[in-house]
Amino acid sequence: MEKIMIITGASRGIGAATALKAAEQGYIVCINYLRDHDAANTIVRKIHGKNGKALAICADVSQEAEVEKLFQTVDDKFGRVNALVNNVGILEQKIRLDQMTMSRLNKIFTTNITSHFLCAREAVKRMSTQYGGNGGTIVNVSSAASRLGSAGEYIDYAASKGAIDTLTIGLAREVANEGIRVNCVRPGFIYTDIHASGGEPNRVDRIKDQIPMKRGGTPEEVANTILWLLSDEATYVTGTFIDVAGGR
Ligand SMILES: NC(=O)c1ccc[n+]([C@@H]2O[C@H](COP(=O)([O-])OP(=O)(O)OC[C@H]3O[C@@H](n4cnc5c(N)ncnc54)[C@H](OP(=O)(O)O)[C@@H]3O)[C@@H](O)[C@H]2O)c1
Repeated sequence: MEKIMIITGASRGIGAATALKAAEQGYIVCINYLRDHDAANTIVRKIHGKNGKALAICADVSQEAEVEKLFQTVDDKFGRVNALVNNVGILEQKIRLDQMTMSRLNKIFTTNITSHFLCAREAVKRMSTQYGGNGGTIVNVSSAASRLGSAGEYIDYAASKGAIDTLTIGLAREVANEGIRVNCVRPGFIYTDIHASGGEPNRVDRIKDQIPMKRGGTPEEVANTILWLLSDEATYVTGTFIDVAGGR
């Protein structure tokens, strides 16, 4: 059976690293992104350069119609998806909760929570044995922030990741007997562009001395964990979390 993966938010950072490694492991990789067409297509070209199969698909996964179109495109091009990496996630500028606007809260919650629910819904309809599927695996990308709360910086982001932790537990139990495993990784401080969106591109270097391992992580280290959870090495693992956070 072909291994067909959708990764949301995969034009850069953790999603892109996961796409490159997944292709090396024989997955057909569907690289979702929002704006950066060139970056997404660069990942596709790298995969094609190594004789892998990949497709970049632009879709705002916080919007129901675009999620449905994303999954339909994959159905039409490759067949039923059997691996989903719910990776998309955004940060806004660092502020206290008493300054947060409604539009900011809506943007964070729809992008970081609703998107994961919508993509999981479409994946379950294709993977579940109840729908005639052959099973599959889902990995949600949460954050150490769900445990730590991000006080004074972005409690909205941290709380959105708390929702992803709960989604993982609930969905894993809901579909455990339908051939689907659902797990979660919780990265700590990883060198990607997400910190620039929070207004501090060099955040990882500023904070690294507070991390027990005294360094930030790489997108590849998170990707390795995601791929292990998706793999046949983890067939009895569901509803659980791996912190990839250097001991933090
Ligand atoms: N980096 C860290 O330190 C860290 C720590 C803990 C957890 N995480 C989590 O890890 C995940 C990946 O983070 P990252 O640091 O790799 O992020 P990143 O480098 O900022 O990349 C974000 C990706 O999401 C895409 N995207 C944004 N909004 C989208 C939308 N509405 N629909 C579709 N795609 C969208 C972007 O596409 P475009 O390029 O087209 O805009 C980009 O590919 C996130 O869930 C994040 O919360 C990261």
